Amino acid sequence: MSEDIRWGIVGPGRIADKVTGDFGLVDGARAVAVASRSLDRAEAFAQRHGIERAHGSYAEILADPDVDVLYVATPHPQHHALALAALRAGKALLVEKAFTATAAGAAEVIDLAQETGTFVMEAMWTRFQPAVVTLRDLVADGAIGEVRAVQADLGVAATYDPADRLFDLVLGGGALLDLGVYVVSFAQMLLGTPERVVATGSLFPSGADAEAALLLDHVDGRSATLTTSLRYALPGQARVFGTTGWIDVLPRFHHPQTIVLHRAGAEPETITRPQLGGGYSHELIEVTEALRAGRTESAVMPLADTLAVQQVLQQAADQLGVPHAEAPGF
Ligand SMILES: NC(=O)c1ccc[n+]([C@@H]2O[C@H](COP(=O)([O-])OP(=O)(O)OC[C@H]3O[C@@H](n4cnc5c(N)ncnc54)[C@H](OP(=O)(O)O)[C@@H]3O)[C@@H](O)[C@H]2O)c1
Repeated sequence: MSEDIRWGIVGPGRIADKVTGDFGLVDGARAVAVASRSLDRAEAFAQRHGIERAHGSYAEILADPDVDVLYVATPHPQHHALALAALRAGKALLVEKAFTATAAGAAEVIDLAQETGTFVMEAMWTRFQPAVVTLRDLVADGAIGEVRAVQADLGVAATYDPADRLFDLVLGGGALLDLGVYVVSFAQMLLGTPERVVATGSLFPSGADAEAALLLDHVDGRSATLTTSLRYALPGQARVFGTTGWIDVLPRFHHPQTIVLHRAGAEPETITRPQLGGGYSHELIEVTEALRAGRTESAVMPLADTLAVQQVLQQAADQLGVPHAEAPGF
């Protein structure tokens, strides 16, 4: 395909501003339209980013025939209904993490994507960071032997405000879906799907989870120990342990610049791989290239992994007593 892939942005909030700033670094992609629940906000965003068309409702961008793919940047429970409607409208999708608020919601979106043969990917930008690509290559080359364990933590000390999306359950509040998704997805990338999930933690007065520690048990002895929190800060460190060494992913591991390879019996090797732009360009390149090539899925962020991650998050939320639900509409 020689023509540009035409992108639409849905939900022009904080992350949409950052991600859209990286479009200039992506060959063959153009952000052509934006949709907000308010025409004023859509117009202001369009003006800031030099986007041609501003839509004052999400339904309008779904009906825009000159948009190939939507970047969905609404809060997590507001992804599901929109994603289903977009797939029915024939739009490909890049959906922000967490992909949905529930595992059942993720399964529905994935099923419809597969049924319609439409490209969908979770915007798990970590997997596309050059330092993480290098880490995967080293592991595949056997640099640390067989991976047996993963440790990762990600947390911030956020000031409690029940109206903020981080704490409001209607907006998918809680540490698990906002930050826990990164530690779980990182473990999934290296160990695959666990057999058993054990979670402990505490809740905010809103019912959203404030902090959680997860043990992912692979039954054969492999494990991940993961910590996430909105109650206290965590460094954002990850470590991958193999039978002949380990790799440190220096903070913050969800968009790292540097990893340190510790091969058994050798001096540590520090490897630095900077991101392009704000670090979001890599996932935009992945989607743009996939669409140009006619692929319906990313090999780096496959839908099976997205579903497995959502199932781990669901089990952890259930164990903590956090009642996540998808928003009924958009
Ligand atoms: N990859 C990353 O690094 C990263 C970083 C931060 C967030 N995220 C993800 O991106 C998503 C959005 O996060 P954000 O921090 O950008 O949130 P945000 O600043 O609150 O923006 C979300 C946007 O969604 C729209 N929206 C639709 N329904 C809404 C509702 N019921 N309540 C509130 N807003 C609603 C709003 O835009 P309009 O009303 O104008 O349509 C709003 O501006 C989340 O899923 C989050 O996990 C990813």
